[in-house]
Amino acid sequence: MKKTILITGGLGYIGSHAVIEFVKSGYEVVIIDNLSNTNIGVLDNIAKIINYKPKFYEINLINKTGLKNIFSNHNFDGVIHFAGLKAVGESCKNIGLYHNNNIVGTINLFETMEKYGVRNIIFSSSATVYKVNSEINTGLKETNLTGDTSNPYGTTKFVIEQLLKDYKNHKSWKVINLRYFNPIGAHTSGLLGENPNGIPNNLLPYIMKVATGELSEIGVFGNDYDTVDGTGVRDYIDVIDLVRGHLKAWELVENQNTKGKMEKKKVESKNNGFFETFNLGVGKGVSVLEMINIANKVVGKDIPYTIKSRRSGDLAIVYSDSSKANKILGWKTKISTMESIENSWKFYKKLKIKD
Ligand code: UD1
Repeated sequence: MKKTILITGGLGYIGSHAVIEFVKSGYEVVIIDNLSNTNIGVLDNIAKIINYKPKFYEINLINKTGLKNIFSNHNFDGVIHFAGLKAVGESCKNIGLYHNNNIVGTINLFETMEKYGVRNIIFSSSATVYKVNSEINTGLKETNLTGDTSNPYGTTKFVIEQLLKDYKNHKSWKVINLRYFNPIGAHTSGLLGENPNGIPNNLLPYIMKVATGELSEIGVFGNDYDTVDGTGVRDYIDVIDLVRGHLKAWELVENQNTKGKMEKKKVESKNNGFFETFNLGVGKGVSVLEMINIANKVVGKDIPYTIKSRRSGDLAIVYSDSSKANKILGWKTKISTMESIENSWKFYKKLKIKD
């Protein structure tokens, strides 16, 4: 029988791509989303790609009664939890909104999962939980220190990781905690991608909006860092590679379940929960100017930019050591930065035609 997975935030940027990959791999998927940073058209586009419309509920995780109703309608084998607000700048202005939406909403989700005996989860965390400083310029490992987050968005990810450890320790949950670096790219059909409301904060959506002519130029935040060309270096991972990491993570949860059952026979009372963190990144950094240069090749023209002062809170270099995921999950990235930008460009051109 098909396994049924609940995907929270399943109409968002990463969630929608996860829906596609999980359905393609034979899972039954149920989506919940409050449509706060996406729209129902994404569900239609998902249906165009997979030739079927997954079950969708429009709901905010703050609505615990609604959540319970959904859980009582389905037998979930597990949850992939993407739902959450994610704009760093907005989180500094509206701290309560982020705490409520991301943390309280997640507490409701976890309580409901426990009530219905759903104890398998993949959580969408972020490299932002790492306690990094300008001295660190090697790939970040899962064992690097976390905490001391620089913004409320990061705090919500950090707190949720701790909440999950409680469920693992005391309720035997099986948790895979995935820390993403900088997701970019889009579905190869050009039907799904990242289209933030308003002026984008992140680099590639901004570059794309300049390329379509919607914005006039990109500001490069600092060219005096100690990096290859003075601009900030990040680890840009393709969204499809990223969601493939979730599939591998899910396989690990399932294998651990089988193993867990076997162990349970021997040691009835032993807690067989687990909590494993994996970085999902390419493992190498690309500078802002390198990104602009690749985008120039993809769009076939020079994207105008000006050098601005450093953005407060930014670090020179942030990239992953993803060797744990390579080894244990048997996962590695396949899609080049150029291909990611080509797919994004396809997506942005389609959006432009719709306007
Ligand atoms: C940001 C978030 C991080 C989040 C991540 C993933 C901050 C401080 N951190 O990280 O929490 O998990 O996105 O999406 O915002 N840049 C420009 N001009 C721009 C935009 C960006 O030069 O208009 C530069 C930045 O200075 C940086 C690089 O591009 O060097 C990437 O920036 P961005 O896409 O915002 O990602 P991060 O800052 O790495």
